[in-house]
Amino acid sequence: MTYMVPYSGISNRLGAEEIKAVTDVLSQDTLAMGPAGAEFERRFAELLDARHVQATSSCTTALFLAAQVLGLGPGDEVITTPQTFWVTTWPLQARGCVIKFADIDPDSLNLDPAAIEPLITERTRSIWVVHYGGQAVDMDPVMAIARRHGLSVVEDCAHVAGGTYKGRPLGAIGDIGCFSFHSLKNMTTGEGGAFVTGNDRYAEMARALGTIHVWGEMSERGDPRIGPYRQPAYYRDAHVRRSYTHDYVDGRYLVGNNYRMSELSAALGIVQLGKLDRLNGRRRDIAHRLDAGLRRVPGIGVQNEKPYARHVHHLYTLFYDPETVGAPKDEFIRHLQEREGIEIVIRYFPIHLLPEFRALGHRYGECPVAEKTYFERQIQLPIYDHLTDDQVEHMIGAVSRGVARLAANR
Ligand SMILES: Cc1ncc(COP(=O)(O)O)c(C=O)c1O
Repeated sequence: MTYMVPYSGISNRLGAEEIKAVTDVLSQDTLAMGPAGAEFERRFAELLDARHVQATSSCTTALFLAAQVLGLGPGDEVITTPQTFWVTTWPLQARGCVIKFADIDPDSLNLDPAAIEPLITERTRSIWVVHYGGQAVDMDPVMAIARRHGLSVVEDCAHVAGGTYKGRPLGAIGDIGCFSFHSLKNMTTGEGGAFVTGNDRYAEMARALGTIHVWGEMSERGDPRIGPYRQPAYYRDAHVRRSYTHDYVDGRYLVGNNYRMSELSAALGIVQLGKLDRLNGRRRDIAHRLDAGLRRVPGIGVQNEKPYARHVHHLYTLFYDPETVGAPKDEFIRHLQEREGIEIVIRYFPIHLLPEFRALGHRYGECPVAEKTYFERQIQLPIYDHLTDDQVEHMIGAVSRGVARLAANR
């Protein structure tokens, strides 16, 4: 089917600048660990006013790094939101952590800080928030709870590059922030991500563990049989160089992985970073136009921007009221999709109800707000930089026609 408003696989149309940047990188002497990656990290750190940024291959790998540097392990409890893409919890599942789901605020769809504290036990170690759809979680109460109980905070910032909380860039408020630059995100590097922290130790660990190194405290060792060749430059590999002179204290170390971003992605990212403010502004304009048109439709609610947040609208969420309209959400979506040619993708199925969590005993009823909202009310319309005015007007008209049609049929 050809859609009047497709769900586009790219957040913004790349142009001559991106083509030039990527082409230029092709004539560098390296496509990995080169100047573009370093420059991208420097500029992203500047944007966030963050102490350390490490470019990664994805947000998923940045989240895996976060779990590893925090030392989260079997039986450690982590509190998070059910309203997220399923990978938010993967590093925790992979490490045998126990995940506790705190219910959400029905408007922002973000984790409700008031739902966190009742879940805290003596085994709780960390709070993982997700700034859903481009809008900040209410971070002050989250950070206050975390500090009170000695917990770390990880921000999943996959949706919020350029978003702020009380004027502060997201990703640099908690202990660690993890970003995504996947093709769909507000700015893109194709695939890509960033690990952000203000903590020197976490940064040092992540730098080793994300770049094919091993990490551990080391002490000097004197063994004259190992080491006569350590000076020449051809033994320059940092990981090997230390083998001539050092051992791990108590034989304890962590094994890393290759989570690096390529130079091609970084070159793309540098150009996209320069456009981010404009790209987010365009999304905000589209969202405000949709809000103004849809707010007037009976049975339809729009998401209100929280006073503390600059919403960057990675997603455009509206709320459908089945009681007012007199038909279930599914029928309304069918109208939008089949009669109006709007390709709908609903984000996200509450993850505590995924089979992998049901297998652990999680069940319907655990997060009533997230469940009711997802199964009855929450809908996303396509939003991206290259939506046309006609497409935006069409979506407003389509929602209005859908409600009128379903209400007339009941
Ligand atoms: C909330 C959230 N976290 C993490 C990710 C993973 O990002 P990536 O595709 O860069 O691994 C996504 C991807 O869409 C996401 O929506």
